[in-house]
Amino acid sequence: GTNQSWGGRFSEPTDAFVERFTASVGFDQRLALQDIQGSIAHATMLARVGVLTDDERDAIVAGLTEIRGEIERGEFQWSVKLEDVHMNVEARLTDKIGITGKKLHTGRSRNDQVATDIRLFLRDEIDVVEAELSRLREGLIELAEREADTIMPGFTHLQTAQPVTFGHHLLAWQEMLARDHERLLDCRKRVNVMPLGAAALAGTTYPIDRHVTAELLGFERPAENSLDAVSDRDFAIEFASFASILLMHLSRMSEELVLWTSAQFDFIDLPDRFCTGSSIMPQKKNPDVPELVRGKTGRVYGHLMGLLTLMKSQPLAYNKDNQEDKEPLFDTLDTVRDCLKAFADMVPAIEARKESMYEAARRGFSTATDLADYLVRRGVAFRDAHEIVGQSVAFGIREKRDLSEMSLDELRQFSDVIESDVFEVLTLEGSVAARNHIGGTAPDQVRAAASRAREALTAL
Ligand code: ARG
Repeated sequence: GTNQSWGGRFSEPTDAFVERFTASVGFDQRLALQDIQGSIAHATMLARVGVLTDDERDAIVAGLTEIRGEIERGEFQWSVKLEDVHMNVEARLTDKIGITGKKLHTGRSRNDQVATDIRLFLRDEIDVVEAELSRLREGLIELAEREADTIMPGFTHLQTAQPVTFGHHLLAWQEMLARDHERLLDCRKRVNVMPLGAAALAGTTYPIDRHVTAELLGFERPAENSLDAVSDRDFAIEFASFASILLMHLSRMSEELVLWTSAQFDFIDLPDRFCTGSSIMPQKKNPDVPELVRGKTGRVYGHLMGLLTLMKSQPLAYNKDNQEDKEPLFDTLDTVRDCLKAFADMVPAIEARKESMYEAARRGFSTATDLADYLVRRGVAFRDAHEIVGQSVAFGIREKRDLSEMSLDELRQFSDVIESDVFEVLTLEGSVAARNHIGGTAPDQVRAAASRAREALTAL
């Protein structure tokens, strides 16, 4: 034999380049703790069904526990010759406890082992991602409550449309994230199914009890079909889909933060600790954090496409292609975690420049629809009201005055149904307060929506 794991059948050593080319230990060592966790459960189950003796199990568990310590302390010597995390750990176990270590792999294959490790790893990471997502949602809800009365222009086509409250805008973000949160929890259900016991592809001849292993590892249930269990990575694709949609949302928020911090908008201030300066222009304060989140969205989309393409056309069951699932998945996780942390830290620190938002809402005839609705209440058909207000706006543009700054006589040039009570609907406060139904921008609705959002978040 030429290699301790499969040498029996081989007559020459692996080519040095091929060894490097096929090795995954450089990146899959991130699965080491889950690999050990899975092995301890496997050995425990094997002893439970009588395939290993209790002494053998104890030796294996003790050896693996020591190895975990070596890995945690950074003392473990990883070897590319041993190809991947699984064979590195197993070889070390045999170094430590001798021949009993060689019994660990009974009734198991690296194919079900690696699929189990990734699922354990992803499940742990999903829980971290979920905590950050909750923290961000909580921050948005709190800020929305604080800014429930703050008026800003709402936009369509990035042109001033109608006044809205800043709290309402923030709760729009929160809603996007609430759906992402549901997608994440839904994905977790399908991640939490156990491949172990599928062995290489067909199952194993030992009298294994997969319910025992599943329970030890906290899996919902053993996977139904051994061929499927070792071969599919759709759970990773689902996570990357969740991540892509989340980053799409964070990217939209980032874009708005970038616009809003500009002198041209001047809607918010981001504290200095979230910004950086320029090496040449002394006046600059750049919103690098949201810009980077916006930029990192691209790599996550790329990983989703990469994983989809990795899986397409693979015949059943396991193929070495699947070794390529890890780097995109790890990078997706790291990126999502960092971006969520950045946002969860940053959102509570957003300072609204209320006057500036208010002034912007006053420009741009944002209460034109309110005037049209007023005319409709006085018997004018909506299309005619639209035309009348359009003429009033054209007048205002020529005269450089907002609707609320015109005199009653000026307004009555366009329609004699207008009376002095029109000014109540032309104020920004009147405009937002009038949109007083579920989902509307009125401050009272924003406060109610925020408290419902908090309840929904706590109920998860
Ligand atoms: N390193 C491999 C992977 O990541 C482990 C499974 C390898 N199995 C095999 N029969 N080559 O997919």
